[in-house]
Amino acid sequence: MTRPTAKNPPRTFHVKSFGCQMNVYDGERMAEMLGAEGMTAVEEGLSADMVVLNTCHIREKAAEKVYSDIGRLRREDGTRPMIAVAGCVAQAEGPEITRRTKMVDIVVGPQAYHRLPELVGKAMRGEEALDTDMPAASKFGALPGRAKQPRPTAFLTVQEGCDKFCTYCVVPYTRGAEISRPWDAILDEAKALVDGGVKEITLLGQNVNAWVDDAGRGLHDLIRALDKIDGLARIRYTTSHPNDMADGLIAAHGDVEKLMPYLHLPVQSGSDPILKAMNRSHTRDSYLRLLDKVRAVRPDIALSGDFIVGFPGESEQDFEATMHLIREVGYAYAFSFKYSPRPGTPAADMTDQIAPEIMDARLKQLQAQIIADQLAFNQATVGKRCSVLIEKPGRKPGQLVGKSPWLQSVHVVAEGSRIGDMIEVDIVSAGPNSLAGEVVRRKAA
Ligand code: 5AD
Ligand code: SF4
Repeated sequence: MTRPTAKNPPRTFHVKSFGCQMNVYDGERMAEMLGAEGMTAVEEGLSADMVVLNTCHIREKAAEKVYSDIGRLRREDGTRPMIAVAGCVAQAEGPEITRRTKMVDIVVGPQAYHRLPELVGKAMRGEEALDTDMPAASKFGALPGRAKQPRPTAFLTVQEGCDKFCTYCVVPYTRGAEISRPWDAILDEAKALVDGGVKEITLLGQNVNAWVDDAGRGLHDLIRALDKIDGLARIRYTTSHPNDMADGLIAAHGDVEKLMPYLHLPVQSGSDPILKAMNRSHTRDSYLRLLDKVRAVRPDIALSGDFIVGFPGESEQDFEATMHLIREVGYAYAFSFKYSPRPGTPAADMTDQIAPEIMDARLKQLQAQIIADQLAFNQATVGKRCSVLIEKPGRKPGQLVGKSPWLQSVHVVAEGSRIGDMIEVDIVSAGPNSLAGEVVRRKAA
């Protein structure tokens, strides 16, 4: 099988990211880094000289997908691109990957990808190119500055890793301990993004609201500093942990105008015994009280969550408690998953694993409720006037698609408006996944 050699270095690349938004961000940074090395991005893997599969290990299906994707990179003439497996599968499986398939040249973990160009060199020389170190010094300092973004919205990772050790989750093992990027580095990156035309920044972290710096500043201080950047119109953040939801952050939702009224706050289950077995360190009640506090300062906030059904030992009664919580909260959006045992996590060894058909039935019931709530939330915005940040063209001629403050997709016909414009819109109709709006007037961006 031919692939780039020392005489024939890769000139084009394709990065494919799976899983969470943090992987999307990492994928963009890897692309920017390879671009800075003189390589050119191409849209499609098979025709690229090099492919980076930026993988996710959170659930079994996500991890298995990597191997089928690798297989699909074999070309009809028997050749293939140089293949790098990055992300959390690389971290979790390491050398196991190159034992399982001969098609992988580079294995690089999420804390080591700043060394990707070096690893390409090694792979070309036929040396082992594996790096799953979790160095104390952050990779961020070794990355080139942000390139001009193609979109008006951008992710910015401010925090990584997790110290919470929920018993079902691989993240503390694949992403390592909680680290916060320094204040100045974050603000510099934000300013560079805004200078390049970005209007909305979403701060990212596995536990983004655990962000803290040496001076004891928290995420709300960072949000207040970003609020002062001229040209930046919207700030979002995700994903938060209920236990790190500081009063200062809640207060910011009440008075920072650029902070959008949307909060993703996973709860996973509505049953206290299950929350305890999950090591979530919050209860159903403490979670609901937290939401009350947020709603007190920002009554229109859109809430979203993550749910796992079929955690080991989950009884019918436990599941009912989750359904009850969902009905009580009225989520604007939610992600829901069947429990997937992950090797090395405590829950994988628990007895009372739940039968797949029970999980299927519970997931179906839960998702039906979520969709009904989502539709109700969207319908409640009909008749409201709000800003929409235009992100892309719509399917119909003249139509544009953007996001409302509550993160809903809004379809609108807006003559003379362009991607990146903030326009004011009256919401006229709603479905479960999007809204339709009519332009009020052009707003100076
Ligand atoms: N099985 C199912 N869902 C999981 N999640 C994390 N680990 C697992 C697992 N082993 C879900 C949680 C988390 C989201 C990112 O993925 O709901 O919040
Ligand atoms: Fe995983 Fe829990 Fe950490 Fe979230 S808080 S990344 S679910 S261990």
